[in-house]
Amino acid sequence: MSNENQAASAPLKAVVGIIVFLAVAIYLLAKLATSGFQIDAQVMTKEAVASRLKPAGSSVASDAPPGQRTGEQVYTAVCLSCHGTGLAGSPKFGDAGAWGARIAQGFDTLSKHALEGFKAMPAKGGSPDLSDDEVKRAVAYMGNAGGAKFTEPAVGGAAGGAAALPDPDTVGKKIYESICVACHASGAAGAPKFGDKAAWAPRLKDGVDAVFNNAKKGLNAMPPKGGYTGSDEEFHAAVIYLTNAAK
Ligand code: HEC
Ligand code: HEC
Repeated sequence: MSNENQAASAPLKAVVGIIVFLAVAIYLLAKLATSGFQIDAQVMTKEAVASRLKPAGSSVASDAPPGQRTGEQVYTAVCLSCHGTGLAGSPKFGDAGAWGARIAQGFDTLSKHALEGFKAMPAKGGSPDLSDDEVKRAVAYMGNAGGAKFTEPAVGGAAGGAAALPDPDTVGKKIYESICVACHASGAAGAPKFGDKAAWAPRLKDGVDAVFNNAKKGLNAMPPKGGYTGSDEEFHAAVIYLTNAAK
């Protein structure tokens, strides 16, 4: 009897053994797979990636692309260092008494003084990388805190994203065709001609930024910004359009 039982239980044991082995194996595989996916999901969320890409110590002001900072951001980053306390005789932020007579000069005069410098006030508050509109926004922001009712020049486009910068092929082209064309189409007064690679190549050897800065300030017969009165960002788009044609 006992022999018969042993003979019958041997294959049974083997089957149970295989089932247990498979169950454990499937359980372990499943656990490995799900925990693997969990790690992936954590590593790849946009927030996690963004936080790892973010440079240490980035501030509110530097989150906005150049040229797109608001008056408050520019004030905090640059102007506050003097105007926050009234350093060096500067009119103090929010002090209506100190600002009253200055505001009476009007927004354009105040902006001109802030852009070009005025007595102990350095041009652009000592930050030449600010665009003209950024300085004007800061003037409006400070003036308004001192009792004025200035309108801050708008930050280009929705939410000030990088994509909001004026497009060279639309905005830049339009400016070129209405203003720059007067000299750059014919080469009048020694202007490098539109599309003339040989004329542009030596100028562009230091990059587009260099010619942009020269053209912004004016260069011999080239008037500042070519006589364009709009924003630096728009003028920049015209320079890109003009120089792209010669590449
Ligand atoms: C290094 C110190 C300093 C910084 C930085 C500075 N300012 Fe000034 N600012 C002055 C001083 C000093 C005056 C007063 C000049 C005077 O009337 O003698 C002044 C005056 C002004 C005035 C009044 C001009 C007028 O016609 O009365 C404006 C507007 C102004 N600053 C804007 C700005 C803006 C905008 C910024 C930042 C982008 C800035 N300032 C950064 C020192 C500074
Ligand atoms: C009144 C004529 C005139 C107008 C209008 C004009 N330019 Fe010019 N531009 C010139 C001349 C002349 C030069 C060459 C200056 C030199 O090198 O002596 C020049 C040079 C330039 C340069 C090259 C600067 C460099 O560093 O070599 C750029 C960029 C430029 N212009 C952009 C523009 C744009 C963009 C406009 C329109 C918004 C414009 N210009 C309108 C006359 C003009």
